[in-house]
Amino acid sequence: MSLVPGSVRPRRLRTTPALRRLVSEVRLHPADLVLPMFVKEGLSEPLPLSGMPGVVQHTLDSLLEAAREAVAAGVGGLMLFGIPEHKDPIGSQADDPQGILNRALALLHDHLGEDTVIMSDLCLDEFTSHGHCGVLDSAGAVDNDATLERYASMAVAQARAGAHVLGLSGMMDGQVAYCREALDAAGFTDTVIMGYTAKYASAFYGPFREAVDSELQGDRKTYQQDPANGREAMRELGLDLAEGADVVMVKPGLPYLDVLAEVARESIVPVWTYQVSGEYAMIEFAAAAGAIDRENAIEESLLSFKRAGTDAILTYWATEVAQRLQAEA
Ligand code: PBG
Repeated sequence: MSLVPGSVRPRRLRTTPALRRLVSEVRLHPADLVLPMFVKEGLSEPLPLSGMPGVVQHTLDSLLEAAREAVAAGVGGLMLFGIPEHKDPIGSQADDPQGILNRALALLHDHLGEDTVIMSDLCLDEFTSHGHCGVLDSAGAVDNDATLERYASMAVAQARAGAHVLGLSGMMDGQVAYCREALDAAGFTDTVIMGYTAKYASAFYGPFREAVDSELQGDRKTYQQDPANGREAMRELGLDLAEGADVVMVKPGLPYLDVLAEVARESIVPVWTYQVSGEYAMIEFAAAAGAIDRENAIEESLLSFKRAGTDAILTYWATEVAQRLQAEA
C-alpha cells in the first residue's frame, strides 16, 4: 500500500526547473521594479552611503548616468529624492524650481522623459531643518493643514519640472485631495498621484535618514501609522481612493505583507510596495557576513511582495535585478 493516500504528491510539480518555472504563480519582470535614487546638491562626486552598501547620493551627472543604466535594464520607473544644501523650517527648496529635486526632475525629463516613468517624492522631510515631513505650529507640532499648502505648491512645482508620478509620502490627512485640486487648477490633470496609503512609523527607514541627511530628532508617530494597526490601513485606503489616488502603496514591505495582501484584495487601483532602506540593509549586511545567500534572498523577498499581491515594487536593487532578469530571458 502507498504511504501517500490517493497518490497525492505535491512534490511531483517540483521535480525539474522547467516544471517549477511553468507552475510558478508569480514572476518578476523588470517593468515591475522602480528604482529610488538620491541626488544631493553641491556634490562633486557620488557619495557612498555606509548604511546602504552599493547605494550613493548622486551628483546631477551621476544621477543621469545611473538613470540611463536603469532604463536600459528595463526598469518600470525612477523615484527621485533630493537633498538640498540649505534646509529651513518650511523647506523652501522643495517648491523652488531651482531646488535640487526639481532641477533633477527636469534633467531626467529632458533626457529620459519619453523612455521611462519619472517619479518624485513629495514630502518635506528632506528639505526641513527640523526633519519633519511637515511644517510646525508654534507649539512645535506638525501642522497638518499648513503642510497641505506646502505640498500643493510642491505638487505643481514637481509636475512643472516634469514628474509623471508624485509620491505623496508625508502622511498628512487630506493630502491626496489637496494636491489633486492644486494640480488640476494648474492644468496638470494628467499628473499621476501615488498615495503612500499605508505608511508605518518604522525603524526600517533608518538608513534612509543618512541617505537624505535627515535632521530629525524624535519620531514620526503623530503622522505615520502604528505598526500594531492593520485595520487602520483599510481606512487610509478608503480615504486615498475617495480623494482620487491613482496608485496606492504599502510601506515598508516585508514586515507588512499582511497589510499588503489585504490592500491588494480591496484596492480598485494599482498597488505598489516599497522595499525600504532597512530591508535592503538587512539583506546586504547579512549576506556580507556570510549568513545568507545575497541573490536568493533578494529574489525571495521580491517574490513575497508579488505573491502578496503587489503590482510593482520600489527597490534599491531594481537595476541589478532587472539586468539579471534580462540576461536570463
Ligand atoms: C519621506 C520618506 C521616507 C522614506 C521614503 N519617503 C522616510 C520617512 O518617512 O521617515 C523611507 C524610504 C526608505 O527607508 O527606503 N520623505
